[in-house]
Order: sequence, then C-alpha cells, then structure tokens
Amino acid sequence: MYIAGEIMSENIGLFYFSGTGNTRSVTRMIKESFQNRGIGVESFSIDELISKKINIEVDKYSMIGMGYPIHGFGAPRIVETFLSLMPSGNNKDVFIYTTAADFVAVNYNASAKVAKEFKIKGYNVFYERIICMGSNFLIKYDKELEHQLYLAAYEKAGALCTDVLARKRRKNRLNLIFGGVVSLIHWFEDKFAPLVGSSLHTTEKCNLCGLCVRNCPTNNIYVKDNKISFKRECFLCMRCIYACPQKAITAKSFNFFILKDGYNINDIINKEYLDISGEDKTKKAAFFKKHFADYLSDISK
Ligand SMILES: Cc1cc2nc3c(=O)[nH]c(=O)nc-3n(C[C@H](O)[C@H](O)[C@H](O)COP(=O)(O)O)c2cc1C
Ligand code: SF4
Ligand code: SF4
Repeated sequence: MYIAGEIMSENIGLFYFSGTGNTRSVTRMIKESFQNRGIGVESFSIDELISKKINIEVDKYSMIGMGYPIHGFGAPRIVETFLSLMPSGNNKDVFIYTTAADFVAVNYNASAKVAKEFKIKGYNVFYERIICMGSNFLIKYDKELEHQLYLAAYEKAGALCTDVLARKRRKNRLNLIFGGVVSLIHWFEDKFAPLVGSSLHTTEKCNLCGLCVRNCPTNNIYVKDNKISFKRECFLCMRCIYACPQKAITAKSFNFFILKDGYNINDIINKEYLDISGEDKTKKAAFFKKHFADYLSDISK
C-alpha cells in the first residue's frame, strides 16, 4: 500500500483480456504512457497466462492494472477465472480499466464484482475507469467516431496514468436498485453467451486454416470430421468471428449481434480508413456524434 509522500519506485503489472483488440490497444496506450514517465511496466494477456498455466507473479509489482471489455454491463467470465488463480494481494494497490462501446451509467457497475473479488483476495482497488472504444457488438459506429474514440482513448489513458500514480481515488457506482437490475441482466448475458456460442458454425468458405482453433481463449473450437465445431465454453468475445480470414463464422441464432462489416481495430487505427470513407451523414451518425461530444472533449470523463 502506498503511503502519501513516500518515495518509492513504481513497477507496474498490467493484466488484460481483449476479445477483438480494443482492450489490448488501451493496454498498449497505458503501457506507453507509464514508460514515457520512466516507469517499469509489463503487460500480460490473461488468456495466455491461463492456457499456458503460467504462474501469476504479483509480488514484484508495486501496483496492478486489470483491463477487460465490458460484456452485458459486467466482466467477461474469463476475468473471474483469472481472479480465482490470483495469489493473495497483501493490500497491493489495483486499478481497473474497462473498455466499452459507451460511457453510459448502466456500465458503472461493470467493475463492482471484480473489485469485490480483488478485495476478498486482499487487494486494494482504488481506481476504476471506463475508456470507450468502438463497438464490436450489435451497433456499428461510423468510421469517424471509431477513429475519434481511438484518439481520445490515448488522452484518457494518459490521464489514467497520472491519476493512478498519484493514487487518486475514482469509483462510480449505481444505486442499489438499479445496480441489482443490472446484475440480473449480466447474469442472463453470462448464461446466454454459451447458448449463442454453441450456435456458431462455419460456412463453406472455411478452408480449415486453424486460426480460430488456435486463438479461442477458452479452447472452445475444434476440428471434427474435417469440419470446425464449437463446444459450449463460448463467452462471445467475438474474436473468432471477426478474425477469420475467410469470414466463414456465423451464428444460427441471434446473428444480428455480429457486425455485418466485421470489426478490425487495426483498420480503425489507420488514418486511411477515414480518408476513404467520407463523412457519414446518416441520422444514426449524427445521434452518436452528439451523444459522444462531451465525452470526447472532456478528458476527465
Ligand atoms: C458480448 C458483448 C457484450 C457487450 N456488452 C457491452 C455493454 O454492456 N456495454 C458496452 O458499453 N459495451 C458492450 N460491448 C462492447 C465492448 O465492450 C467494446 O466494444 C469493447 O471495447 C471490446 O473490447 P475488446 O476488443 O478488447 O474485446 C459488448 C461486446 C460484446 C462482445
Ligand atoms: S479461421 Fe475461418 S477459415 Fe480458418 S479454420 Fe477458422 S473458420 Fe475456417
Ligand atoms: S468461440 Fe469465438 S467468440 Fe466464443 S470464446 Fe472462442 S473465440 Fe470467442
């Protein structure tokens, strides 16, 4: 635990899950921001740590950062699996950064359960922040907004680093009733994801390259009778769907949640992505432009 005024050298461990690259990008931004201040920082993808059964060493860090995308107003199941493997914390300071498609209050409790589980393990969660990135689920944002959110995330990541180094406290919570409703929705989402996931299937475009099998964070994908099959361990991270080079993965049920044009953070980062698109003049684009105006212009949000 940091004591105000104490001179200590920081060494920070960032542990993150990212389905489609947003949280990985934000982790990179946070890492760069710490490094630019001369602070030691290492980052680890939690699905790799889990699948390779790598020991999670926390003692060498003065502070831990935990990052993940918000799924159904809560944390993806893999974060709970990771937390169950974490050693006890001896009151080590933790900050949580989540990425999301929106900054709306309904997302505020997405780190409440994770913070509680950290506390049970003996960690001190003092800071939680949502950083909006593009939406990889249900609603596709226009290209300009996706790019603006990406650029704003740099600023927000820098502000987060300044805050956590100063051990500034930050936490938003819903009231008891609203929070209860949101927990219930998240409970349903958690049960619903494997059902939708088990309806995933491949079309004739699949050439059995094996990328999805290698990349699934829960080893949910396997080859049977020369065909890609899915078990019931999916939590809808969307990685296999958008990363398939043949665009061969779709869902039998509820396939409306899959973005028709896919989601590729590397395209969004690329300035040329914007240049070729022109301004989106639809009502939907105008709505989101207005909706995100404050968030984009105010670094503290
Ligand atoms: C199954 C699922 C549920 C989601 N639920 C929410 C949500 O409740 N609130 C939100 O703002 N974004 C939601 N999103 C959007 C993601 O949180 C957002 O795009 C995130 O940045 C993706 O991060 P990643 O690329 O690291 O996986 C959801 C995405 C998925 C795939
Ligand atoms: S990544 Fe696509 S093409 Fe490759 S095996 Fe999976 S579904 Fe088939
Ligand atoms: S099956 Fe696809 S969407 Fe489901 S957990 Fe694996 S990679 Fe993610």
